[in-house]
Amino acid sequence: MLDKQSAIPIYVQIEDFLKEQIAQGVYPVKSLIPSERELTDMFGVSRMTVRQSLTNLVKDGLLYREKGRGTFVAEEKMEQPLNGLTSFTEDMKERGLVPGTKLISFSKIHPEPQIAARLGISPDELVYKVVRIRYADDTPMAIERSYLPVELFPTLTEEALQGSLYAFIEKQEKLVIGQATQRMEAALAKTEDAGYLQIALPAAVVLIERVSALMDGRIFEVVRSTYRADRYKFISEIGR
Ligand code: GLP
Repeated sequence: MLDKQSAIPIYVQIEDFLKEQIAQGVYPVKSLIPSERELTDMFGVSRMTVRQSLTNLVKDGLLYREKGRGTFVAEEKMEQPLNGLTSFTEDMKERGLVPGTKLISFSKIHPEPQIAARLGISPDELVYKVVRIRYADDTPMAIERSYLPVELFPTLTEEALQGSLYAFIEKQEKLVIGQATQRMEAALAKTEDAGYLQIALPAAVVLIERVSALMDGRIFEVVRSTYRADRYKFISEIGR
């Protein structure tokens, strides 16, 4: 199985072999792969080498470890398009997954200057601060911290926020959502967020800030979302 004369390091060959086996369905999603010791015997290499391969596959998001239980095959990451101004609820339904929401907090505050500037309002005006954990089939995928001008949505309730915010805006408020600007960056998860997302620290996350406007140009939300980097990859169509 391994070519010890090859210029490709042994640990990389083991990684490639396991990737191949996963792709072929020998080890299905969520199944336990052989233990370090079994792999060591199977390949006739040191345990260190096997460990290096597994660690790399865990870092790449192909495998995950559970303390005391072993190493498992991870689900394929979700491909999130970056082109459309879609809602979380729409994205999940599109994939045949059940969207879920846990409302962590809902309050009226005076925004900090940076948020006020993004919303194009004065810090004296009130905004709702909404913190929600978003789930796909009961798996936490992202945390969203949204800031919405109270003036635009005087009737917004906790109940509406348990479902789709965009559905509330479009169906209930009969407003037309226009366009948004997104900024994306990589980060390490904060302790609080790792708890919400049920991931072990240190963990990579992707931060996306979305500033969205209605068709008439009024900015209706600034949302800072924290996405699990082990569950998401982002895709955009680009032309020339
Ligand atoms: C996405 C965006 C958020 C937006 C949300 C609305 O997750 N990142 O900026 O507020 O969708 O989703 P929903 O309508 O499901 O509440």
